[in-house]
Amino acid sequence: MLTLENVSYSYTGRSSRVDVLHGVTCTFEQGKFYTIQGPSGCGKSTMLSLMAALDHPQEGRILYDGTPLKEIKTARYRHSCVTTIFQRFNLLTYATVIENVMYPQLLNGVKAAEARKAAAELLAKVDIAESLHKRLPRNLSGGEQQRVAIARALAAGAKVILADEPTGNLDEENSRRVVAILKQLVREKDGQPGSGKTIIMVTHDGDLAKEADVMYSLRGGMLRVVEA
Ligand SMILES: Nc1ncnc2c1ncn2[C@@H]1O[C@H](COP(=O)(O)OP(=O)(O)OP(=O)(O)O)[C@@H](O)[C@H]1O
Ligand SMILES: [Mg+2]
Repeated sequence: MLTLENVSYSYTGRSSRVDVLHGVTCTFEQGKFYTIQGPSGCGKSTMLSLMAALDHPQEGRILYDGTPLKEIKTARYRHSCVTTIFQRFNLLTYATVIENVMYPQLLNGVKAAEARKAAAELLAKVDIAESLHKRLPRNLSGGEQQRVAIARALAAGAKVILADEPTGNLDEENSRRVVAILKQLVREKDGQPGSGKTIIMVTHDGDLAKEADVMYSLRGGMLRVVEA
């Protein structure tokens, strides 16, 4: 589904160069939950940004369903193939909870009534009560905001969800809840909204990382499988 072939990446400034990834090769299959651990600054966010096509590797290539990202229209890719959730929930501040989740579908040209219905279903799926639909995100707890962000990622319809420390701002109970929801999205069978996603989650939490089907560690620019 998403493949990295010998990917190397450096940040280059006028007088400096930071080598971050050295020949990373791996495949992320559909319907699996992956975690990536590694020390601060080792390149985890960089790797996700390459997979999100926010930037391109200097060497090697990334393929989505067998097609190199460079050959896929970036707007389409970011909209319907891969979506990212972050540690800070990045919801639209002046839109209500349900409007946040409707937004990706409205952008896709879906009619408002239909987008609202789909958004309500997705919010139910991530355990957000109807009484919260009309609130602004800042009036929700961190855990609730992150669940809304997941619903919004699902509304975009992307098959791959990249999650960069999605539990970084949450307490243990809310972290577990978010990970349980992500795992459920991976397991669900076709036909159910959000079914069979591929999820790649960066985390500093070793216990949460163990929830993965495949656990990776990034160190010295190289990605390795961690045996459970
Ligand atoms: N725009 C940039 N220009 C130059 N160097 C950068 C830039 N962004 C990141 N870096 C450097 O690249 C390296 C990898 O950064 P990255 O953000 O990918 O690490 P990370 O593994 O996500 O770390 P953390 O766990 O702290 O989030 C770091 O050394 C960082 O300082
Ligand atoms: Mg990071």
